[in-house]
This record gives sequence, C-alpha cells and structure tokens, in this order.
Amino acid sequence: MSGSYKIIDHKYDVVIVGAGGAGLRATLGMAAAGLSTACVTKVFPTRSHTVAAQGGMSASLGNMGEDHWKWHMYDTVKGSDWLGDQDAIEYMCREAVPAVVELEHFGVPFSRTEEGKIYQRPFGGMTTNFGEGIAQRTCAAADRTGHAILHTLYQQSLKHKAEFFIEYFAIDLIMDDGVCRGVLAWDLATGELHRFRAHMVVFATGGYGRAYFSCTSAHTCTGDGNGMILRAGLPLQDMEFTQFHPTGIYGAGCLITEGVRGEGGYLTNSEGERFMERYAPNAKDLASRDVVSRSMTIEINEGRGVGPDKDHIYLHLEHLGRDVINERLPGIAESAKIFAGVDVAKEPIPVLPTVHYNMGGIPTNYHGEVVTLKDGNPDAIVPGLMAIGEAACVSVHGANRLGSNSLLDIVVFGRAAALRAAEVVKKGSPHKPLSDTETTDPILDRLDRIRHSSGSLPTSEIRINMQKTMQTHAAVFRDGESMSQGIDKLDTVYSSFDNIGISDRSMVWNTDLVEALELSNLLDQAKVSIKGALTREESRGAHAREDFPDRDDENWLKHTLSWIDRAGNVTLDYRPVHMYTLTDEAEVVPPKKRVY
Ligand code: FUM
Repeated sequence: MSGSYKIIDHKYDVVIVGAGGAGLRATLGMAAAGLSTACVTKVFPTRSHTVAAQGGMSASLGNMGEDHWKWHMYDTVKGSDWLGDQDAIEYMCREAVPAVVELEHFGVPFSRTEEGKIYQRPFGGMTTNFGEGIAQRTCAAADRTGHAILHTLYQQSLKHKAEFFIEYFAIDLIMDDGVCRGVLAWDLATGELHRFRAHMVVFATGGYGRAYFSCTSAHTCTGDGNGMILRAGLPLQDMEFTQFHPTGIYGAGCLITEGVRGEGGYLTNSEGERFMERYAPNAKDLASRDVVSRSMTIEINEGRGVGPDKDHIYLHLEHLGRDVINERLPGIAESAKIFAGVDVAKEPIPVLPTVHYNMGGIPTNYHGEVVTLKDGNPDAIVPGLMAIGEAACVSVHGANRLGSNSLLDIVVFGRAAALRAAEVVKKGSPHKPLSDTETTDPILDRLDRIRHSSGSLPTSEIRINMQKTMQTHAAVFRDGESMSQGIDKLDTVYSSFDNIGISDRSMVWNTDLVEALELSNLLDQAKVSIKGALTREESRGAHAREDFPDRDDENWLKHTLSWIDRAGNVTLDYRPVHMYTLTDEAEVVPPKKRVY
C-alpha cells in the first residue's frame, strides 16, 4: 500500500502535534533547549481554539488581595471533586506564578491595575484561606486573554526557530512494539503525505467538544489526538466528565466568559430572582461551573426559565455601566450583539449551559509523559509519547475544572513537557529503521478505505446523529435509563459509518475527507465517554446522575480507563487517584462533604 501513496520523510528530535497554547509552549521550550523541533498543526497557529479563551489564567500572584498557591491548590482539589491527582495539582499551582511572570516577559499584554500590576478578577470556585473568602486570582487581558497568550507564544516559537507544518492533518501514530516512533500527517494544500520520525511525539490536539450538538468549542475541536491514541490500542481516561459552561449564548452556543460574573454580573430566572443565592449561599453566581450549570438546569426544568419557551436564563451586566464593559469585557459585548442581538449595557444576555471542556483525555504524569496500565503498573510510561493541554488528562481537573485553570494548565504543562523532553531526548540521535508494512501500511489502508468509501450517508448526517445523541443522553443531568438508550442509539450511529460516502476523491484540500476522519475520531470518543458514564454509578463533579445522586468515594474514587477495539467494543478498567502531594508543604486534602 505505501507504494500507491508518495510519502515524504522527515527526522526530528521532537514533533508536537497541535499549535494551541499547550503545543506552542512546548514547541518554544523544546526549540529553545536545542532539540530539532517540528510543530504539525491542522490550522494556522493563531487560529487554534486557545484564541477563544476569554476570562483569564489563574495564578496566586496576590496583586489584588492576599493569596497563596496552597489556597489555589485547595480550591483545585475541591473543584475536581477529589478526582484530581494531587501531585500534578501541587505542581500546577506552584508553577502558576512563575508561568504568568514568564508570559509577561514574553510580551503578553495583560490588563493592569492602577499601580501597573497584572489585573486579576474573581472566578468561580477560587477562594482565599481555604474557602473563607473570594480570591481575585484570574490574570486577564480584558476578555481576550487566550488571544493575547496565543499570539505571544507563536512569536516566541518563531524566535526560537521551531519549524511549522501548517494545515497538516495528523492521521495516525507510528507505533513499534509499544514505542511511539513518529506520526503520519497529510499536507492539505499539496495532498502529499509526510512521515515525521521523532524520539518524542507530543499531542497537544485539544478537546472533542464537537461530539456534542451545542458547544463553545471551535468546529476544529474533534479530539484527533484522542482518536489516534484509541487506534494505537492505548486508553483514554475519565471520558465521562464533560464540563458544561453555564453561559453559552442561547441558540448559538458561543462563550460568554465567567469573567462577566467575576466583574459583578449575575443570573436571574423568569421571576427576576437571583436564584444562585438559594443554591450556593456563599459563592452565589461564582460557585463552580458544575454547580451553576445544574442550578440553571433545575430552574428551567421547574418552569422558571425565561423567553417564550421558558428554556433559558438571563445574565445581567447592565448595572456595570458602559465604561467597565468597554474596558474589561469588550469581546463579549461584541459577541452578544452579533449572536443574540443584545446591547449588554441595556439588556440581559440569554444564556444556557453549553458543553465547554473535556476533563478526560490521554492519561499522563505531571511531566506530560503518557501513561497506561501495564502488567499491574497503573503509571507505566508509553515511551516516545507525551500529551498536554485539553487533550491530556494529567489529571489536574479531575471531575470538574475550575474556570481559568485551563490557560494555566496549557502553559504549565507545555513547559513541563519541554523540560522533560530536554532531559530524556538525546539531541540528534539516530532513528530506528522501521518496517513500512508493519507501521505505515495499516494507516494507509484505513485512509484509502475512507477516501474511497461510496456509501449512501454523508458525513454531516452521521455527525448530527452522534451530536444529538450525546446532547440528549449524556447531558448536564444523566441517569442509567437515558444513557442506556444513548448507548443503543450511538451503536447504530457508529455502525452507520460503514455506510459513509465521500464524494471528493482527491487529496488536495479534500475537506470532505478531513471531516470524515474527524468524525471517525469523534465517534470513538463519544462511545467511550457514554460507556464510562453509564458504568460510573455515582455523582461527582460534572457527572451528575439522578439515579446515583451522591459521591461514592468507597467505590469510585478512581480514574476510569477506556479502550475501544476496531469493532467498536469498549473495555473499561481503573487506576488510582494520586492522593499524595509532591512535597510535605502541601498536605493531602482528604475527600470532604460538598459545601459551596
Ligand atoms: O469563562 C471563561 O472565560 C472561560 C474560562 C475557562 O474555561 O477557563
């Protein structure tokens, strides 16, 4: 088969797949360490989904009130509903402060206080003194923080002479007896295939929000790295935990940052009531996202939604005044105008909980190295492979991520991966010769099969069936009956991929084929997500089961691992949560009853 496709070979020390914030931070760090570094990305770097991150990046700088990394760690462990790995959380919260300072020195144009310090706003679940007060911990560049960080990291990567392969679609990993040796990618502009050999492949391929009908994620968020991991016979972790952001614009799904509530915005129901005061008397509108999303859903389900169909909620910021809105929230004012036709200085924004983030992904340690369960070892490293950012499950977010911990995660673990690669990869070392038949031909066979498929179903039809099934059967609230129905429906959708029809056979800018490959990745992830969700018989973080409303630490304080075979059969196993910290300074935080 390799004979019928021309393949261009490249050799690098390291290859990063994905050029969002995590991918770029790893790219610049590896290039700066003197490793020959390639970054392969399906979109132009500054169009990666990080560009859409609005509210900010958490770090206990203490610029706007007392703060400490231990308080940040406490909030993150609690926010994760105790499913987060505490060694990784300690690492992230301690590294947050130097990470922001480094970004400032790289040139990120953060907003400023009167004294010229980095401006920090309150965000949900971020507290002082172990839950006593509200912390102002989220470092912001107005409401375009991701945009500012992404552009700066791309400039830094270019400065360090990293090589970019832009609009290249990564198809599959090149695996050799359990060791990752590279990745095969397709140059969309020329139609050529490129085989990148590397001593370390780093997946920074983002989340898979597009498995759902309504999400804040870009259309490109199809979890391609996760799909490649599953095809390589490796597991994904905690895929049942999908975060719903409380404030997606009703009907459009676009994000309205939690920073709005951080600046004093609030939610009301059809009775004009600030209902969060009932659900979370202390944190109110700044309770963690899972709590706010569930509260909004209850209000709507009990008939107190707003609008003609009483199916959404109002978010108010009229009282903040135009000056604050223009200075701190200019981006969402524009989005609300375009997507909801609302002048936010005069009227509330119609909002609804919308899929926003995948806590699950590729299991890694806090160096970014991919791990798996092997011969009884739950932390066995997969040689030659790393994952960072939303693609990874490190797991700092556990069952629920706190807002503004994602921009932090991508920068801290992008850097951690670069530091580790500089330790374990020997610059310029030779690459092991490989057999095409064993490593590359199976990838080409699959590509060729999908490219020439001539069934009766367009990609769009299969995709919408998957998205609607996930939206209905793996929702904010779930139960066994609804998820079992979802699994049956998804089985049918999954099998229908055998009847897909691709109308464009060329290799040049064949978006029909790109979308089919993305759908194949999404379908595998949807299957393992809903199966993991049905099996986890408890409520924890974003996984809220009506038939099992309590957290069950005795049976479920563990990470789910999921595999899928080529026939679509899902297998589950479990690995322990790291309840230990890196140092004695950060005490282990034991599971506690929820208090909001
Ligand atoms: O609401 C927001 O600005 C989103 C931030 C985040 O997901 O971290």
